Order: sequence, then C-alpha cells, then structure tokens
Amino acid sequence: MAARPLTGRRATWSAPGRVNLIGEHTDYNDGLALPFAIPMRTTVHGVAREDTSVRVSSTGRDPIEFGTSATPGTVIGWGAYVAGVVWAMSSAGHRVPGVDLEITSEVPVGAGLSSSAALECAVALTVADIAALALGAEDIVTIARRAENDFVGAPTGALDQTASMFGRTGHLVCFDALTMSCEAVPCEPEGEGLVLLVIDSGVVHRHVGGAYARRRAGCADAAAQLGVPSLRALDVGSLDRHLARLDSRYQPLVRHVVTENERVRRTVEHLRARRLREVGPLLTESHASLRDDFAVSIRELDVAVVAAIDAGALGARLTGGGFGGSVIALVPRERMDDVVQGVQGEYADRGFGTPSFMPVAPSAGAGPTSDPTRR
Ligand code: GLA
Repeated sequence: MAARPLTGRRATWSAPGRVNLIGEHTDYNDGLALPFAIPMRTTVHGVAREDTSVRVSSTGRDPIEFGTSATPGTVIGWGAYVAGVVWAMSSAGHRVPGVDLEITSEVPVGAGLSSSAALECAVALTVADIAALALGAEDIVTIARRAENDFVGAPTGALDQTASMFGRTGHLVCFDALTMSCEAVPCEPEGEGLVLLVIDSGVVHRHVGGAYARRRAGCADAAAQLGVPSLRALDVGSLDRHLARLDSRYQPLVRHVVTENERVRRTVEHLRARRLREVGPLLTESHASLRDDFAVSIRELDVAVVAAIDAGALGARLTGGGFGGSVIALVPRERMDDVVQGVQGEYADRGFGTPSFMPVAPSAGAGPTSDPTRR
C-alpha cells in the first residue's frame, strides 16, 4: 500500500469526567441540565499508522486491536467506546487513518462520573487532530454520543459529552437539550465557604442494561400520549392537568422530568445571584424525585444522601443515571469531616462497601495537551 500522507502524525488530547449538579434524566426529554467538568481527566496520545489498524493500550488493561472499518458488535467491552468513535467518524464521511492510541485515565469507572464520555471525547479529538479533520466541539459531541448509542448500545442523551467538551473552570454548563445550546454559569463554591463533594457509593453502574432504556421509552410514550413533541413542552403550572390525562404508570416519570427542569431554572437563578447555599434544598428535592418518582436510586445512594445531610450537608442527590455510582453533596467547608465520617459510619453499620470521597471544583473541558503522561 502506498505511504499515506498522515503517517507519523501525532496528537495528545484530554477530556474530563463530569458531575451533573442538577437536571437528571432530562437530556433525552429535550430538557435542561447543569453539569460541570471535574478535575479528573482521560488523556489519549495517538500516532498515525501506515495501515488501517487501530491499536489501543490502556493502563491496567489488555491491549486491543481492530480495523478502521470495524462495525457495531465486532468490538465489545471498554474497546467498544474507542471503536465506536472511529466508526462514528467514518460513518459521518470522515477518512480515519490507522492509529496507535495510548490511554491514561484518572476518571473512576462505574462511579457515575462519565468515564465513558471522557474516553470518547479524548479519542475523538486525538483522532480528528491526527486526521486533520475540521471538527467543532458540537461535532465531537455528536460523534461521541453516536459511538455510545449506536456502537456500545447505551441509549443515553448528550449530557455527559456536552459537559466534557464545554466545561469551563469556575463555571457550570447550563445545557438546553432542546436547542443543544450551552451557557456558562459561574460557580465558585470555595468563595462561599462551600465544597462540592462527590461520594462514590462503590456500587458500579451501567446504562447498557434495560432499566435506563425503559425509563427513556416511558417518557417518549408519555409525550406521545399527551400529543407533545417531548416532555419539555410541559411546565409545572399545567402539570396536574396533564397528569390527569395520562396513563397512571407514566405519571411519576412525567412529574419528575417537569419538576426537574424547573429545579434547574431555580438553581441557575440562585447561582447568578451568588447564592449557592440556597441550591442545597433543590438538590435534596431532586434526589427525592429520582428516588420516588423516577425510581433510579438504590439504598446505598439514599443512605449517603441522608447521612450527608444529617452530618451538615446543605443538600445532596444522586448524580448521573442512577442504579449505583455517586452522590453529589453541597457541604460547608467546616462540616466536611463530619460528612465523611457520617457516611462512613452509616455504610459500616449497614455492611455496605467502602465509600470514597472526592471534592470537585468545576474545571476545564477537553483540550490539547503536550504531555501524554499528564496527571
Ligand atoms: C447518564 C446518561 C446521560 C443522562 C444521565 C441522566 O449519565 O449518559 O445522557 O441521561 O444518565 O441524567
């Protein structure tokens, strides 16, 4: 085969995981969410090859290899996120060269912090750079999401990839899935004597299973029954009237989505007025709605929320899709130790696994890096 002009080109990009402060299970309902990028990142260093193979190495994992024409179903496990990106790029008409990719990640897997979106975005940016493709951040979001939906088979929305691409230090990303637009909302907890604390329950979550898909389908069915394009068309003022027309099994789903959009709006108002403390009760309301109406919580998350609040947190909720993963708690700095000890104590008393704790400040989104070993 003739030498390809891209051979030897190299690039290194990294992309962060995310925490969603509030606005859960709204993205696939054309709704609102308020995530932020976290300091933990996934870094991908790539070098173009002369052939059409993609060889991937990642710390602590067996290397994998597939061809640039790999189709859904032919690569499984963690490699599917990488192969899915290559496939989504090729399907969009881009010429993707063979590459060697070296991955290092500090985003915990299965903790509800979007390690998969961080991996997809970092791979997409590195490959796009090597292939000299003129892709914008929105294009990367589309490619990464396609990889997850149509290659990996997880029917998720665009929240995670959007947060990873558009995150900004000291800001939350107000994401409107109806218009696919983002607005940066300032949020500097330390300035108000507060900490955003991730409490990882240690229960690994996945969205390839059916529970997430069933809720998503239920929301679509409810919108169809109400004759609206999506649940975004409903507001809290007319909620009861709409609920009365709905099949009872859909009522809790709709109540959650509509009230959650409203909680995002109120959170943004508080943040714009530099009243982060006032957001605490909204987080706790969101958790109750996810637990009681949307039914995506588990005991470990509920216990972490209650224990954190009992020990002094201003509010707490599960973050991400649920069924495991993490809680995000808003904690006055001086109550941090109490919260950690409170949650550890409750977990020990109940024989749950060991929780972990990570303070996370809103951090930078994806970007290039010159150092492949950046930590
Ligand atoms: C997962 C999905 C997102 C979103 C959340 C729930 O993180 O990947 O698209 O639906 O669940 O808000």
